[in-house]
Amino acid sequence: MSNSQVKFYSGETIPLELHKTRIVQKLNLVPIERRLEALYEAGFNTFGLNTTDIFLDMLTDSGTNAMSDNQLAAMMRADDAYAGSQSFTRLHQAVKDVLNTQYFLPAHQGRAAENILACAYIRKGSLVPMNYHFTTALAHITEKGGQIVELLYPEAYKIKSSHPFKGNMNLEALEAYIQKHGKERIPFIRMEASTNLIGGQPFSIENFRAVRAIANKHDMRIVLDASLLGENAFLVKQREEEFKDTPLADIIKVMTGLADIVYFSARKLSSSRGGGICTNSETIYKELEALVPLYEGFLTYGGISIREIEAMAVGLYETQDETVISQSPSFIAYLVNEAEKQGVSMVTPPGVLGAHVNAMEVCSHIPQTQYPAGALASAFFLISGIRGMERGSISNQRDEYGNETYADMELLRLAVPRRVFTLSQIMYTIDRLVWLKDNRELIGGLKFVYEPPVLRFFMGRLAPVSDWPEKLMAKFREDFGDSL
Ligand code: F0G
Repeated sequence: MSNSQVKFYSGETIPLELHKTRIVQKLNLVPIERRLEALYEAGFNTFGLNTTDIFLDMLTDSGTNAMSDNQLAAMMRADDAYAGSQSFTRLHQAVKDVLNTQYFLPAHQGRAAENILACAYIRKGSLVPMNYHFTTALAHITEKGGQIVELLYPEAYKIKSSHPFKGNMNLEALEAYIQKHGKERIPFIRMEASTNLIGGQPFSIENFRAVRAIANKHDMRIVLDASLLGENAFLVKQREEEFKDTPLADIIKVMTGLADIVYFSARKLSSSRGGGICTNSETIYKELEALVPLYEGFLTYGGISIREIEAMAVGLYETQDETVISQSPSFIAYLVNEAEKQGVSMVTPPGVLGAHVNAMEVCSHIPQTQYPAGALASAFFLISGIRGMERGSISNQRDEYGNETYADMELLRLAVPRRVFTLSQIMYTIDRLVWLKDNRELIGGLKFVYEPPVLRFFMGRLAPVSDWPEKLMAKFREDFGDSL
């Protein structure tokens, strides 16, 4: 059952909630004057904000999806044991049932799985072709002396598009890349489900099958980042003719069956915490096994709390449920379509994880050297209390010579975690976004005042290049009076 199956008499497209809310958390909407102070305290980096100052937290879906009654119930029966926990046995069974892989290595979250894979397979000079990078995957590969290459089709870089699968691997480019560099330097091909940094855009199974054929031809491995697999599978069902009547559970298995190694962040995939690596190859399992006790914890917990392991097992089964998986993409589609209608430039077609605002257009007057997406994230928090995430040049890392590398896209990501927000909160988000677009010329740039050497977007501190935040606040007061 998905909410697109419920039609309204009015003819409107409204993403009806297919759940009810039984545990709630009070929110704070503090006045704009306090939000401005909070921004200065946070170094104009939304990662630095405290939730006491935040109204709607759209930073990420990572570890913030709503948990189900069944997940919470499962946490109560956790079998605490350093080794041989029954909770792990239940998780392992869930991995077998849902992802269809026999071997499973737990890791405390997605990037820990990436670390293990990088330790095992990346050497100085290694090359990893992929549809697109994710920040932590890239950092682990480069830290070990490897390099990546992104092989998307040109359509993927178009903000406005109707292409259903912008995350597709460019097959001709992949073949040419392997021919040029030789398979010896390429430990694996990486495919990321619902390609995060280009706006949560899926790839098709047709494309994935073709990548598999290329890998087979050259006897190469494929690693699938399955952190956002459920949503990619949902969009395959919606957008790929062959699978329109296939249950989500089967689509997921088709996808995992095309990879040699599947890894994931359980903070996303199973609405819990944790992560792990799955395979059907005993050889691969043996190559990785010893690294888990070294970096994570014993093989039956891998650094994850036993309670979360129980939640993860139930969450994995729920990933097969369209009622659960359709909610976030349908709210995102509503947000994107309504904002677009009112003139805000958004990444289209709507993807998963969140709605992505095109800062390159909204802040077209801010040069990339002054981080338009970071500026937009700060400005939007200021005028709404909504915390989004910069996904642009601040999230990029400098090249090996220390030069800035500007992002292909400057995006403000507004995450819509599963079953967390109500439709009126989404309507508030659209309302404030439209106001900010109408007052866009008041937004100014940012500059770094503290730039950490690795994953700078997390801890970096910035400052506005002028007193634009004060001017923007004054305009808000002029237009909204004493409104929060
Ligand atoms: N791969 C993808 C596609 C991700 O989106 C993430 C995390 C990771 C790997 C790393 O997993 O956080 O459990 O270590 N994405 C979060 C986000 C942080 O906000 O998009 P992790």
